[in-house]
Amino acid sequence: METKNIGLRNIEVADTKISAIDGINGKLIYRGYDVLDLVKKSTFEETACMLLNDDLPTQDMLDDFFSNLVAAREIPEGVEKNLRNLPKNSNPMDVLQSTVSALALFDTKRADDRETNYNRAIQLIAKIPIIVAYWDRIRNEKELVRPSKKLNHAGNFLYMLTGNEPDDEIARIFDICLILHAEHSFNASTFAAREVVSTRAHMYAAVSAAIGALSGELHGGANYQVMQMLLNIQTEERVEPWIKEKLSQGKKIMGMGHAVYKTFDPRAEVLRELSRRLSEKTGEPWFKITKKIEDVTAEEMKKVKGSDIFPNVDLYSASTYHMLKIPPDLNTPIFAISRVAGWTSHIIEEKFAEAAPKPMLYRPKAVYVGKYCGPSGCEYVPLEKRLH
Ligand SMILES: CC(C)(COP(=O)(O)OP(=O)(O)OC[C@H]1O[C@@H](n2cnc3c(N)ncnc32)[C@H](O)[C@@H]1OP(=O)(O)O)[C@@H](O)C(=O)NCCC(=O)NCCS
Repeated sequence: METKNIGLRNIEVADTKISAIDGINGKLIYRGYDVLDLVKKSTFEETACMLLNDDLPTQDMLDDFFSNLVAAREIPEGVEKNLRNLPKNSNPMDVLQSTVSALALFDTKRADDRETNYNRAIQLIAKIPIIVAYWDRIRNEKELVRPSKKLNHAGNFLYMLTGNEPDDEIARIFDICLILHAEHSFNASTFAAREVVSTRAHMYAAVSAAIGALSGELHGGANYQVMQMLLNIQTEERVEPWIKEKLSQGKKIMGMGHAVYKTFDPRAEVLRELSRRLSEKTGEPWFKITKKIEDVTAEEMKKVKGSDIFPNVDLYSASTYHMLKIPPDLNTPIFAISRVAGWTSHIIEEKFAEAAPKPMLYRPKAVYVGKYCGPSGCEYVPLEKRLH
C-alpha cells in the first residue's frame, strides 16, 4: 500500500480567521492586514491584541491590553525558585518549555471559558519574555533585572536581558522582529498547539507542546543554526567554498527554503533591511556574510537542481539578533516570545470556533507497513524460546 501525504503538505485541516499565507506571491496577512504594512505602522502590542481579537483594536482596547500585559509582568516565586535550581548549562528552549508547563501549576483558575483563556494568553505573552531573560541572567550568575512597568514589550525584554534600557531605534528594530514572528498560520508549532487543545487539554499544555515543536532545527531552531553557520564561516571570502561543500555533502543550508513560500518570504525582506541597518550602525560584517550565503546558495541550487531557493525568516533574524547583542541560543526562545501571540490566538480559535465546520479531535490515519502474519496476528513466542 502506498503511503500518502507525507508531511501533510497541502492538506486542509481547519478553517482559520487568524492569518493567511500566499506562498506564490510572498504575502503574509494577519487578520486581513499585510504584515509589511504592520511593520511600518503597528507595534507588537497592537498586533498581538489584533491577533487575539478579530480586528485592529480601538485606543481603549489597546490601552486595556497594554495595562493588562504590564500587570502580568511577573512570574510566581515558585517558578523563579525552580529556574534557580536548574542545571546552568540547560538549553534555553528546554527551560522555557518546562517552565511554561510549570506555570499551569500556579494558575488557580480552573475555568476553561473564552474569557479565562484570553486572560491566560495575556499572562503567557507577558511571562515568556521574563522566563527567557531571567534564565539568561541566572545561568550567567547575574542579578535579575526586574521588569519595567514603563517600557513597551520589546524594550522591556532587552532591558531585562541586558540591564540597560535600549535606545528608541534598537527597541523599534526588536519590536518589528516581534511583529514579524507573531503568527504564521498552520506551521509546525501552531499545529502542535491546535492538535493538543483539540483533545480539550489546557492552554499551558498546548503552548509547551508548541515550544517543543519550535525547538527543532527545521522550524524555529533554524535561526540558532544560522548563527552557528555565520560564526563558523566568519568572513565573506569563506562563504562560497563553505556553502559548496555543505551542498555537495547533501546538507541543508539553514535559513534558506520554505515549505510554503516559493518566492521571497516577506519577513526575510524586512529582516534583511534590519540586518543591513544594524551592520551599518555597528560596523559588524554579519549582513554582508549573510547576503553572500543567500546569493551563493541560490546560484548553486539553480546550477545543481535547476530550482530557485529564497531566504526564510531565519536567515537574517540570526545576524539581526546577534547585532542586538542577544546570545545565539536565545534566538529560538525569542521566536517563542513573539509567536506565543499566534499560538494562543489559534488555541482560542480551536477551542471556541463558532461557525461550522467546528474543529474536532485531530486524528490522522497511518498506513501500517509493519510485520504481518495473517488476519489473526503473529504467534506469541514465549521469551525463552525466542531465537532473535
Ligand atoms: C523549510 C524546509 C524544511 C522546507 O522543505 P521542503 O518543503 O522540502 O522544500 P522544497 O520542497 O522546496 O525543497 C525542494 C528541494 O530543495 C532542497 N532544499 C530545500 N531547502 C534547502 C536548503 N535550505 N538547503 C539545501 N537544499 C534545500 C530540498 O531538499 C529539496 O531537494 P530534493 O528535491 O532533492 O528533495 C527546507 O527548506 C529546509 O530544511 N530549510 C532549512 C531549514 C530552515 O531554514 N527552516 C526554517 C523554515 S522557516
